[in-house]
Amino acid sequence: MAAQLQDTENSTYHGASLSFSDLADRLKHLTSVPSLVEVYELIERTTIGADEVLPYLGFKAGNYSRHRVMKNEFVEMLVLCWKPGQRTPIHDHNGSHGAVFVHEGILWETTFEYDAETGLNYQSHRELRDAGLTGSEIPDIHQLGNPDVSGRDLVTIHIYAPPLGVLKTYRLGSATVDLYTPAEPDFI
Ligand SMILES: [Fe+2]
Repeated sequence: MAAQLQDTENSTYHGASLSFSDLADRLKHLTSVPSLVEVYELIERTTIGADEVLPYLGFKAGNYSRHRVMKNEFVEMLVLCWKPGQRTPIHDHNGSHGAVFVHEGILWETTFEYDAETGLNYQSHRELRDAGLTGSEIPDIHQLGNPDVSGRDLVTIHIYAPPLGVLKTYRLGSATVDLYTPAEPDFI
């Protein structure tokens, strides 16, 4: 009976919709590193009001900008703002998995495969628009960006578990792997 009651509670829990701040709160209260599936489930239940994201918006010339919403030892959540043409290096997450949610704009993601003998090779490409969701399992290698041709700004929401540390970066056709520390968020 207790188990049945718990199931009912769980299904209610899973069905509830979340705001942007509810999502951050859920992540803050985690007591272990969530799986990518768990992070997806939370994001899929989240409806983000434009006003909630406003405090985290800010663009700059050159590099895309990063704004941290929350971070604890298990997970971190950021809002990234990209002008057309801004993109990441080709990278993996060096032990973290990551989920990316497009809040506004057009995101291009290119994925790669690494072979110690032939080096880094192109694997696939995809486009995500408003409300599109993608993720990287360990050890996926990818590059994200707002394409030049989009003609509009891009705002994405990122959840990394555990929080990102030093990343590995790659170059197409090369077996060389470098280390890369993402810029500290422009505001935390
Ligand atoms: Fe990434």
